[in-house]
Amino acid sequence: MIHPGERIADLFAKPVGTRLQASGWVKTRRDSKGVSFVQLSDGSCFRDLQVVIEAGVIPPETLKLATTGACVTFEGTLVESPAAGQPVELKADAMVVHGPADPAVYPLQKKGASFEFLREIAHLRMRGNTFGAVFRVRNQAAWAIHKFFQERGFLYIQTPIITASDCEGAGAMFAVSTLLGAREGLDGKPQFHLTSTDPADDFFGKPAYLTVSGQLEAETFACSMTNVYTFGPTFRAENSNSARHLAEFWMVEPEMAFCDLQGDMELAEEFLKYVIQHVLDRCAEDLEFFNKRIEPELLSTLTHVAESRFEHLTYTEAVRLLEQSGESFEFPVYWGADLQSEHERWLTEKKVGRPVILTDYPKEIKAFYMRMNDDNKTVRAMDVLAPRIGEIIGGSQREERLSRLEARIQEMGLRKEDYWWYLDLRRFGTVEHAGFGLGFERLLMYLTGMKNIRDVIPFHRAPGQAEF
Ligand code: 4AD
Ligand code: MG
Repeated sequence: MIHPGERIADLFAKPVGTRLQASGWVKTRRDSKGVSFVQLSDGSCFRDLQVVIEAGVIPPETLKLATTGACVTFEGTLVESPAAGQPVELKADAMVVHGPADPAVYPLQKKGASFEFLREIAHLRMRGNTFGAVFRVRNQAAWAIHKFFQERGFLYIQTPIITASDCEGAGAMFAVSTLLGAREGLDGKPQFHLTSTDPADDFFGKPAYLTVSGQLEAETFACSMTNVYTFGPTFRAENSNSARHLAEFWMVEPEMAFCDLQGDMELAEEFLKYVIQHVLDRCAEDLEFFNKRIEPELLSTLTHVAESRFEHLTYTEAVRLLEQSGESFEFPVYWGADLQSEHERWLTEKKVGRPVILTDYPKEIKAFYMRMNDDNKTVRAMDVLAPRIGEIIGGSQREERLSRLEARIQEMGLRKEDYWWYLDLRRFGTVEHAGFGLGFERLLMYLTGMKNIRDVIPFHRAPGQAEF
């Protein structure tokens, strides 16, 4: 009897009277006079399958193992359900226990456990409603991303995770080194020691890091194969204990040749709307749950965004609006300041009420590769800001002029030698090109209404957090 066969999601569409097996994990069991009810879930859909077991049909010593968390298979007949909200239920006459779960110690007992607590049992939390829904939405969003680019002829490329160049220049990189040895200290605890301090002795013969972005490598491909995208993990050692930052997060980075900032913004908007619409279509039950339990305006916002035009503002216009807002912000606003999340949220939530694209930021607060405007003060950058989230996408047109790029690298105190291959793209067959990076987990916060970014990634990495 051990062949799980169909998933629970598929069983609901079967005609009444069908004999079938249903396998999954028990959410709850309720015994009343002459009959027991088991809510069974296998993660395939939001709904649980209700299994009805009449007294005496299954030996009591077997049935009593169907406790919360146990893994079981039921066999029986699909019947019409008298209960509200479910068309069918399974009238079971046989049961196999794959793995029991001792109710005295099973950690996921309580209903309404806090998200903080559930993070500590992240290996089990997807058995519950909220996290099952989160990871189904994550799956559909990932698929929508590939579909969007593949339908438009973009080439999916994989850029290195270990790199020697700092793309964003923010200095928030994790070093990758074999010079760090571990040994047992006198107190018996593990201790680090350096086997050499010379990068030449290290594995790569020079300092190497976990990548903060695949953009520079993606640019090399765009300058040969026109339209490409990456979708992979990126790493930032930002020591911010915030609800919007992770040390390891996933980024989607398209890069297009023969494209300027206008084309970049149009693609970003079309892309976001496409993914939102896909998830609205494919995850209706999950989104309804988020709408009911997590974020009351989720569905109306997502539907509204999928249909509306994003607002466009320059950084300079945005700063003026913020200065005139009369709000008292924690961080001061002035031309040249990096916008903080409170400013971004005021602009999208209070001022505009939908996503905003900000462009033309001061060069001092942006990376070296962005194309300089004629004013020599601002660069062709664009950030997409979303209500509740703030920055969800960061992108730009790239500096394709060799001399301007070299000047910028020097101005910012970077070493030209480190970027020889990047500069070659401007030496040989240079072209206008542009791209952006979408923070995948920020998008998921937007799609689900979840308030903490640690709750939309399977196993979060953050300061002091690397369990699992
Ligand atoms: O704005 P960022 O730093 O842009 C880049 O890395 C460019 N190289 C992208 C490109 O043009 N190809 O990061 C892009 C996005 C941000 O808008 C944000 O959504 C997300 O990545 N992000 C983070 N998400 C979670 N945790 C962090 N620590 C993040 N840092 C950035
Ligand atoms: Mg950014």
